[in-house]
Amino acid sequence: MKRSVIDTVDLTVEELDGIIQTACDISENPQKYADRCKGKKLATLFFEPSTRTRLSFEAAMLELGGSVIGFSEASSSSAAKGESVADTAKVISCYADIIAMRHPKEGAAYVAAKNATIPLINAGDGSHCHPTQTLADLLTIYREKGRLNNLSVGFCGDLKYGRTVHSLINALSRYEGIKIVLISPEELKLPKYIKEDVLEKNKMPYVETADLEGSLKDLDILYMTRIQRERFFDAEEYERLKDSYVLTAEKMQFAKDDTCVLHPLPRVNEISVKVDDDKRACYFKQVLNGKYMRMALILKLLEDEKNGVLPTHTEDGVVVNKIKCKNPRCITSVEQELDHKFIPTEKDGVYKCIYCESEEKL
Ligand code: CP
Repeated sequence: MKRSVIDTVDLTVEELDGIIQTACDISENPQKYADRCKGKKLATLFFEPSTRTRLSFEAAMLELGGSVIGFSEASSSSAAKGESVADTAKVISCYADIIAMRHPKEGAAYVAAKNATIPLINAGDGSHCHPTQTLADLLTIYREKGRLNNLSVGFCGDLKYGRTVHSLINALSRYEGIKIVLISPEELKLPKYIKEDVLEKNKMPYVETADLEGSLKDLDILYMTRIQRERFFDAEEYERLKDSYVLTAEKMQFAKDDTCVLHPLPRVNEISVKVDDDKRACYFKQVLNGKYMRMALILKLLEDEKNGVLPTHTEDGVVVNKIKCKNPRCITSVEQELDHKFIPTEKDGVYKCIYCESEEKL
């Protein structure tokens, strides 16, 4: 396995800060970077729809002087004929220098990274993680607030299936003075493993509430999210929950003058278009920041590869095929050849799936 990024925890805080500084420099001096990836190829493997992530990765590589190959849907790849993620990763490693991959199943990026012989960036794996969206979020917060610590951050909407929420909370847990407000319907609360393993483990203060309006006055950052229709197995439940929160110009009156409103996009109706002209609406700036951060990350991983930097993932202490992952969204639920691998947690007898992080007892 090469140095890859499955989630932001694969990067140290110093590395994150370095990527932010490079991204700022790229935005100010794009010509300096125009040939930095000359002769290099990025493969974009998108087994699931995307506008921003795929096209910003492609724009990023082109603006670095490199080139791009790839596919934008599983049906136009040999996945449609039953090719595994592992084989796809091995094959693409023969054609490209770096991979950006999105897949609907949780842990697919880890499987691909384990089998690729070139660096791999997770561009979203099911409801699990979306680290490069987090890079876009961090740069936007840094540029708008001038800091990444001492912030009150509210997450609103689908906190259960919203992978951008999971990755950003993970990243923020490494900065000082972060208070988290989790605003969601009961059915879409943040998964227990993130509350326990990230918020509680890092002693981050957090509250859970269903009240958006009542929360607004305290927030430096409001991170709105879409209800993730594609993750629901029950269409009726989606219909019932889809309009849980709509941020309107009227509701923005309850927010602070300098609250920064973020959204990973696409939005459906959870932010009224009337909010777009509010100076606090930063979600289109977030889109542009995403391209700069992806440029900086590609540069870093190719540099690390040249310098032989080792991967951060180990499988020390892993238990193989003694526990079966029951998560229907895990990559093991569709790829029968994969070993079921679990690592011990700090909880007695509780193990965590190495792919999707679901917990099971031995
Ligand atoms: N934010 C985001 O991941 O958007 P896309 O699904 O369009 O890539």
